[in-house]
Amino acid sequence: MKNVLLLGANSDVGKALAKVYAQSGYTLTLASRSTTELQQFVAQNNLEATVLFFDATDLDSHVAFYEQLPEKPSVVVCAFGYLGDNLLANTSEKERNTILTTNFNGAVSILSIAVEAMKKQGKGIIIGISSVAGDRGKGSTVYYGAAKAGFTAYLSGLRNQLAHQNIHVMSVIPGYISSKMIAHLSTPSFLTSSPEHVAQQIYKAQQRKSNVIYVSAIWRLVMCVIKIIPEFIFKKLKL
Ligand SMILES: NC(=O)c1ccc[n+]([C@@H]2O[C@H](COP(=O)([O-])OP(=O)(O)OC[C@H]3O[C@@H](n4cnc5c(N)ncnc54)[C@H](OP(=O)(O)O)[C@@H]3O)[C@@H](O)[C@H]2O)c1
Repeated sequence: MKNVLLLGANSDVGKALAKVYAQSGYTLTLASRSTTELQQFVAQNNLEATVLFFDATDLDSHVAFYEQLPEKPSVVVCAFGYLGDNLLANTSEKERNTILTTNFNGAVSILSIAVEAMKKQGKGIIIGISSVAGDRGKGSTVYYGAAKAGFTAYLSGLRNQLAHQNIHVMSVIPGYISSKMIAHLSTPSFLTSSPEHVAQQIYKAQQRKSNVIYVSAIWRLVMCVIKIIPEFIFKKLKL
């Protein structure tokens, strides 16, 4: 049975993924906070999908959320994310917690529940969308980057732990995506992927059983360079 659970399906990447998986014959379960918007998306695109409410920060609801699924998914994609306000987060514990809980604790919580269900099924695929922001901490995304770094490490650890249990874990490390998350930023076009391109790359990589993808080759190169810049130089750069 090919069925996918898209967590954060109301993200631009999530919506693009929903179309790709539908075209590939998957049964869709779309989960997000904005269920009305998701229902409209489903109707407008003639999709067949179950739409469910899911809040990544409501950790106590995650077990019940997963238990209510009529059929346990063969593929779970974690596509939600919260960039947040980095400056505000410097002084607001609430904003810091929202960034950290959404991108790390929330993602770890729901995926850990999904993994236990997949162990019972004896198979499964977990896809986590992290970010290049997690590859090296920088001043403009201190908290988002820290959370994504944790999430990337979690996915890596999980992949290692589950390698002999027929559960494949894929880490997606995108650079800029032209989504609502960065609509307020002006990013170079050669470094910016469309949500549709990201979705296609994720699906293709799932077919190949890739472990880690950077979505575009240029970002793999950029991050190789960024990671080797000595700290005494890196700290002086306004990034
Ligand atoms: N955009 C980029 O440049 C970029 C770069 C690297 C990585 N990424 C990552 O790629 C993934 C997809 O991002 P995107 O750019 O497509 O995002 P997006 O269009 O900005 O949407 C983000 C989605 O996250 C959901 N979300 C936020 N907080 C949530 C919560 N507490 N519970 C459930 N859902 C929550 C929101 O759902 P509701 O609408 O239902 O509230 C929102 O639709 C994310 O993991 C993001 O961190 C993005």
